[in-house]
Amino acid sequence: MAVLFFSGRAVEEAVSPHEAYDAVRAAFVAHHRGEWTMPPKVYVTNYPAGDFRAMPALGGGHALLKWVTSFPGNPARGLPTVTGLVLLSDAETGQLEAVLDAAAVTALRTAAAAVVAADVLARPGSSSVAVVGCGVNGAETARMLVARGQRPLVWDVDPARREAVAGRLGAEVASSAAEALGCDVVVTVTPGTTVLFPEGSLADGQHVSLMGADGPGKAEVAIGELRRARLFCDDWEQASHGGELAAGVEAGLVGRDDVTDVGAVLAGDADGRASAREITLFDSTGLAIQDLAIASAALAKAGELDLPTIAL
Ligand SMILES: NC(=O)c1ccc[n+]([C@@H]2O[C@H](COP(=O)([O-])OP(=O)(O)OC[C@H]3O[C@@H](n4cnc5c(N)ncnc54)[C@H](O)[C@@H]3O)[C@@H](O)[C@H]2O)c1
Repeated sequence: MAVLFFSGRAVEEAVSPHEAYDAVRAAFVAHHRGEWTMPPKVYVTNYPAGDFRAMPALGGGHALLKWVTSFPGNPARGLPTVTGLVLLSDAETGQLEAVLDAAAVTALRTAAAAVVAADVLARPGSSSVAVVGCGVNGAETARMLVARGQRPLVWDVDPARREAVAGRLGAEVASSAAEALGCDVVVTVTPGTTVLFPEGSLADGQHVSLMGADGPGKAEVAIGELRRARLFCDDWEQASHGGELAAGVEAGLVGRDDVTDVGAVLAGDADGRASAREITLFDSTGLAIQDLAIASAALAKAGELDLPTIAL
């Protein structure tokens, strides 16, 4: 049996930022409606070095398993934080169809989730947007925003990283962390080891897509700020156990009724932002159905690409 192999570059060639955005948006809705399903991801931890995640999903005629890492200390070793593989199978026959680079799939779907959530939750008329954290996934988020006609400010503690991303995309570097964190819309994609929004720092009307704190013990916003905001997540099961909201749940500050799944908002079954003054927070833990959306979109383009195959 010959199985298609998508390198990171092939994934990027196959799926444009616009296609990724549409596919992830549709996956959120399909998941909310129960048409696409996934159990919560399983963490295999080797802290403080990092963790491995096993992420299965089923939908659209395919089944998927992503085996992926988060090793925050890796960049200091010259290694990427996120690595792994995605396996895509035919849901009717069980046959393996494709193997894809997980880092590229993850970056595309993470960027898409951040921007989809910002688009549906941000205050109408929001005029400034920033990406904080210019690593692999932050850079992809900035690329997604630029592709969608926005002009993001970018910020990273590492000057070389923020300059490189800005130069590559024609984006502007924020003059300071404070300027970036004060934008109407902020996407945070840092390792989650430093709180970016301390108590009382979120501004009225602000929206923040919190992407970096996707596992136990990580946080980009102070726990007290959760009480000042209307809360949204990608999936309650995952977010209440291993995301930004998990600490609030553990402290008894946040319960199921306080948090809306963004898929319900996108499907028109739940309210989003209630007023221009409200602060909205989107807690992303990263969903296997998002990976399935990107992997399926890539497979649909296989005929247009000269892809290598793996013989099993
Ligand atoms: N929610 C999701 O779906 C999802 C998906 C992928 C990755 N992640 C998480 O996002 C985080 C980033 O992943 P990555 O692959 O982009 O990592 P990366 O190591 O490539 O990039 C992280 C960047 O953040 C910068 N940074 C660190 N502290 C900062 C601070 N206080 N302010 C500004 N910038 C800061 C670093 O200099 C680096 O450039 C990780 O924690 C990862 O687990 C979440």
